[in-house]
Amino acid sequence: MPVTAIVGAQWGDEGKGKITDLLAEAADLVIRFGGGSNAGHTVINGLGEFKLHLLPSGIFNAAAISLLGTGMVVDFAALQRELDDLRRAGVSGSGLRISNRAQVVMPYHIVLDRLLDEARGEERVGTTQRGIGPAYADKVARLGIQTGDILFPDVVRRKLDLLLPETNRTLLRLGHPAIDPADIMRQAGEWRECFGTLLVDQVELVDRYLTEQRPIVLEGQLGAMRDIDWGEYPYVTSSTTIAGGGAVGGGVPPAAIDRVVGVVKAYTTAVGTGPMPTELHGVEADDLRTKGAEFGATTGRPRRVGWFDGPAACYARRLNGFTDMAVTKLDVLSGLESIPICVAYDVAGRASSDMPVTPLLRDAEPVFESVPGWEADISDIRSWFDLPSEARFYLSRLEELVGAKAGIVSVGPHRAQTILR
Ligand code: IMP
Repeated sequence: MPVTAIVGAQWGDEGKGKITDLLAEAADLVIRFGGGSNAGHTVINGLGEFKLHLLPSGIFNAAAISLLGTGMVVDFAALQRELDDLRRAGVSGSGLRISNRAQVVMPYHIVLDRLLDEARGEERVGTTQRGIGPAYADKVARLGIQTGDILFPDVVRRKLDLLLPETNRTLLRLGHPAIDPADIMRQAGEWRECFGTLLVDQVELVDRYLTEQRPIVLEGQLGAMRDIDWGEYPYVTSSTTIAGGGAVGGGVPPAAIDRVVGVVKAYTTAVGTGPMPTELHGVEADDLRTKGAEFGATTGRPRRVGWFDGPAACYARRLNGFTDMAVTKLDVLSGLESIPICVAYDVAGRASSDMPVTPLLRDAEPVFESVPGWEADISDIRSWFDLPSEARFYLSRLEELVGAKAGIVSVGPHRAQTILR
């Protein structure tokens, strides 16, 4: 059964958008299985350059269904803005569907995300302030509003009556005016009007495509180091970022997933707080950030940058079981005399390639080895064997450290700037 999961193997922003755009060309159904408008996927293809937040990167394949899956938290206002942008560029987005069991990011979640993260002071997570954490918190507290609820105004009203008194107490305590349920009901009416007909029963849809053996792509969000269970807790997002989440949030039986593509950037980036063992500072960081144009697609924040982190990517492979690996932005490393690679961590005087828990990771020292760099611009290369031998050696070291074959190598932002091996 042809189901491919595409997941991030680092701290997010690995280039999953480009890889999904590429693989979605041959897919009939593309499902985003987690997260919300905190995602920032940059896609450059024949239609232009796009920054996607909620929409699956398969939205450009007009023949495919692009589904916002049950594991997601959906901000309808953000979705409307994103669709408007696409339509202005001539992309109809007609394949869009929304699971009727996903959660709604409510306006108060967005306010709470900012206020609650600020209130953590030194311990802040540095969230994208898109309401993700509070929306998932309400979901597990059984106070969430499901997308399908918008078809039943009385259900929405009853849920608001249940949850708003406590939510408003928190808002008032944090210095924000209380939310008026009438205002939310009015917005819910607009969401029903715009999106009501796009709501679907995900299980029926997925089962039909599986039965017909039609190719499905599961698109992950963020990377393993920001996973709610396996990431560097608490500096994580509030959802599952690994392939197992493709089964849960994507509504696909686990045994049906037969390919897992782990996406790694040829170096490391992160936004938000928390440990990042290979992080660079000063001029070296500025150079890499500028060369790689490392500024957040959602928030515009300068990304933290560092060398490739072998233990982190290997940890992601262990969790996801990559059948193959996509290495992105290799071209950004051209022109360096030598390139450091982190092969292990020194944790309290002991070298290990395992991932320690957060308090130990904070003090972990990266153990580097250096490999020779290459001078040539590789952005026009389309075949593995045309790559400089040093670039092939660099990739083979990454393969050894991660334990997966680099089946896809990206040498530039455009869809065509890709080497398939
Ligand atoms: P949240 O997902 O907005 O709650 O943020 C939790 C953590 O994940 C913070 O460190 C964010 O910076 C990070 N994060 C969320 N979305 C992205 C993304 O698309 N790329 C990179 N980091 C992200």
